[in-house]
Amino acid sequence: MEHQSLPPNGRTEADVLEDLQSFAAQDPKYKEGRLWSLVYHLDEGHDAFLSKAYAQFSSANGLNPSVFQSVKQMETEVISIVAGLLNGGPDSCGVMTAGGTESCLMAVKTYRDLARKTRKVRRPNMILAETAHVAWFKASEYFGVKVKLLPIGKDHRPDLRKLPKLINSNTVMVLGSAPEYPFGLIDPIEEMAEIAQGQDVPMHVDACVGGFILPFMEMNGTVMPPWDFRVPGVTSISADVHKYGYAAKGASTITYRDLDTLKHQMFVYEDWPGGIFASPALLGTRPGGAYAAAWATLQKIGTEGYRELARQTSDAVEQLRQGIEAIEGLVVIGDPKGPLIAYRSNDKDLNIFAVAAQMELAGWSLNRTQKPDGIHAMVTAQHLAVVPEYLADLRKSVDIVRSNPGLANSGSAATYGMMSHVPLRGMVKKRILDVFAEMYRAGGAELDLHASGSPSLLERGMSRYVAWRVKRSR
Ligand SMILES: Cc1ncc(COP(=O)(O)O)c(C=O)c1O
Repeated sequence: MEHQSLPPNGRTEADVLEDLQSFAAQDPKYKEGRLWSLVYHLDEGHDAFLSKAYAQFSSANGLNPSVFQSVKQMETEVISIVAGLLNGGPDSCGVMTAGGTESCLMAVKTYRDLARKTRKVRRPNMILAETAHVAWFKASEYFGVKVKLLPIGKDHRPDLRKLPKLINSNTVMVLGSAPEYPFGLIDPIEEMAEIAQGQDVPMHVDACVGGFILPFMEMNGTVMPPWDFRVPGVTSISADVHKYGYAAKGASTITYRDLDTLKHQMFVYEDWPGGIFASPALLGTRPGGAYAAAWATLQKIGTEGYRELARQTSDAVEQLRQGIEAIEGLVVIGDPKGPLIAYRSNDKDLNIFAVAAQMELAGWSLNRTQKPDGIHAMVTAQHLAVVPEYLADLRKSVDIVRSNPGLANSGSAATYGMMSHVPLRGMVKKRILDVFAEMYRAGGAELDLHASGSPSLLERGMSRYVAWRVKRSR
């Protein structure tokens, strides 16, 4: 395949920007509330504000905090605001990162190195609930920290009785989530932290989702079990400004109870010919624009603004919850207290992935869960306006699936059903890897990635795999 070449003489800005607009036209209609993950959109006015804040610092580099002091000042102020929101004590400290995943990776590196230094742990492990975000499993692979899985009980929350026995002398950290991603449930942080602290093991709370909404829901009167630094055994918390903080993408935080722990996150190399090098997190160059947009957003929205956004989000969640539970055959998974919910079918004749497929035909962009199979909704303030339409389409989708049982075995419903239930998980992993890697060929995949309105490349790749398995099993 011939590679694309650079335009020989460059192109006009207007021409290039027009192309960008046409690229954007392929994306889900998130500005109209049709997308239920990935994006936290307020309105066009806020997007314009983010762009202005970002643009002022788009060349600024937070790599060396003594050069771009502006970026360091914004980072320091963001961390201080976060520490206050999370009820951190006087020794609170922290670092801005490029996203939730970087914050999670950093926590694992910190606690691995802390245990190596203070307890000579050479074969580290960490305790993760099955519902921990996938970033933690990534961190396990990247940093060689074995996962000890804390199973989920009937209420879909970590089974506390199993926790004490999982901790051993090689355990470097315990993780709790507030809330976890799959079902939006807040782990029993107080109880987990008490067990961890009793065995002298640090505990990180992943509040990448909850960090910028749970504190405001609590201020609004929602009764919430404690999950932040008020809980004595909690030693660090990650909170994303680019999620419910409504900042531009590329801004998360990791905050620690004390500096001695944070030191293990840092990297210093004093003998490099390029100069003495110190870095607080994973990235080298750190995007000043993202930090500026995060700082600016916190200043613009303020406490009352976030409370109002939290109020609208809670209303949307409540309306969705009631609407979903009023539909025969659907139930919300567990008892979510935050902004994120998932629901499943409790009727063997109603296939939830077929319902998801119908919803997508109606123009909604949804995520699916597995174990149990379900539909996921990351609810934001913006969704309040579209809840009635969403519920109307959900009722219609359920009716269509009930009157066409064959839909469960066709299209994306069959693919997702197969992917979540086929027992050979190693095969699924390998096949996904093959199809996924294909997407990263220079010049694009052999399959047409940009065909709009058609299933994703991953879906198409997987449906071929499903067809192949079905044929083999005959
Ligand atoms: C609980 C939780 N932790 C971590 C992450 C990772 O965040 P990011 O996608 O910003 O890397 C997510 C993302 O949704 C999440 O839900």
